[in-house]
Amino acid sequence: MLSKEYITELKHRENGDISDLISSQQDIRNIIFILESLGRLPENFDPDFLYKLLKHNHPQVRLNAVKNIGKLNGKSDAKSLVELYKKETDTNVRREIVSSIGRQRKMENKSLLFYFLKDKDPKIVCQSIRGLLIFEKDKDVEEHLRPLINHQNEMIRTVIYKEYFAKEKKTKDFLPHAQTYDFLKNVVINADVLEALRVVPDESVHLTFTSPPYYNARDYSIYPSYKDYLEFLEKVFIETHRVTKEGRFLIVNTSPIIIPRISRAHSSKRYAIPFDLHPYLVKNGWEFIDDIIWLKPEASVKNRVGGFMQHRKPLGYKPNSVTEYLMVYRKSTEKLLDWNIRSYDYGTVKKSKVADGYETTNVWKIDPCFDKVHSAVFPVELCKRVIQYYSYEGDLIFDPFGGSGTVGRTAKALDRLFFLTEKEAKYFEYMKSKVKTQNLFDEKKTKFLTLEQFKKEAIK
Ligand SMILES: C[S@@+](CC[C@H](N)C(=O)[O-])C[C@H]1O[C@@H](n2cnc3c(N)ncnc32)[C@H](O)[C@@H]1O
Repeated sequence: MLSKEYITELKHRENGDISDLISSQQDIRNIIFILESLGRLPENFDPDFLYKLLKHNHPQVRLNAVKNIGKLNGKSDAKSLVELYKKETDTNVRREIVSSIGRQRKMENKSLLFYFLKDKDPKIVCQSIRGLLIFEKDKDVEEHLRPLINHQNEMIRTVIYKEYFAKEKKTKDFLPHAQTYDFLKNVVINADVLEALRVVPDESVHLTFTSPPYYNARDYSIYPSYKDYLEFLEKVFIETHRVTKEGRFLIVNTSPIIIPRISRAHSSKRYAIPFDLHPYLVKNGWEFIDDIIWLKPEASVKNRVGGFMQHRKPLGYKPNSVTEYLMVYRKSTEKLLDWNIRSYDYGTVKKSKVADGYETTNVWKIDPCFDKVHSAVFPVELCKRVIQYYSYEGDLIFDPFGGSGTVGRTAKALDRLFFLTEKEAKYFEYMKSKVKTQNLFDEKKTKFLTLEQFKKEAIK
């Protein structure tokens, strides 16, 4: 019986034992298992059989042979690997060859790694870059890698940008990552979001969660054309990007909408808002992270399938839309999430930890919420999850399209700060009235400001 323990024992015995064990195997799966179980190779390990296996007809065997050759360090022979690279067609084996040669960290292998940079497969180029970056401050390496800032592959450009160009970027004098400006704390502004954002400094917001007005679907959202609508949202999210702190998140709730037909002689038109908005966001520095589906009970949504239920004729099928999207983006940065997290003190990280019972999938089953004044309010549960999963206590949460203020109230309840803008006076007044009736903001007073008042606060 083959076991990991047995293989470990054999590899430390006299040379040749593992080679014999492999030769005696009929089943490819056993050969792969042995190769995968080898672990660290002892100093006196005889690798001859590994080089022979480079000619094996199963790619998984060749891959594991290459992997083990990579563990031989100084003793491994790059020539056989390069020979295989030249004729190998399996992309994983090719990548492993480059990785193996890179891991040897030998100066004489630099020219091979330069050669791999010309490969058509971006994964090979990335692997070779990885091998070369080991030679820190090496002028030759830098000369070969810097020009890749113009490579056609975006991953490669990002890696090169991070290594050679980001460090040259001027770093502005921002507030420490976990902090924000006093005049933005717990305020609601009755203004067009773009007007209000003019006085908001760069890098002030930790998280934006919003549901933009739906294109011409409600009275507060009338735009001359769909293009105008998307371009308006583009402007809002460019500005949101500017005021967002490095590496922090934007979560946009939208769904496709339908504009009813003008008469029986015409068709209604459906607009795929999440999909049409996405390119505008990515183009402007928002990196796509996740799509979360908000799933509602069927009984709570408009019945579209009724006609089909009667006629059952194909092409006329119209399912009931029980989902909306939460599209999750991160302000593009070369910094890892760890950098963001390390900006908080131990106590804040501890207090902000998400408790048991959190959602583990990207399908969130939540009942919608109906409100007597505002026709499109967020359920508190939806806000709670977003705020808890994507911010820390004390963070500033922004909603450019404040509506009835659900984001603000939930942020407050979760010991975060909030900053909302809402254009319509009636919704602004509604938020004010909620404060009075629900006594939600007694401790950290909420400021309800006109645009002029807000501008004055900003220059104080
Ligand atoms: C979908 S609702 C948001 C509802 C909100 N999530 C809630 O829970 O109540 C969109 C809101 O954006 C507001 N709005 C539309 N255009 C705006 C603009 N240019 N600036 C600020 N608010 C705007 C609308 O008046 C509406 O209340």
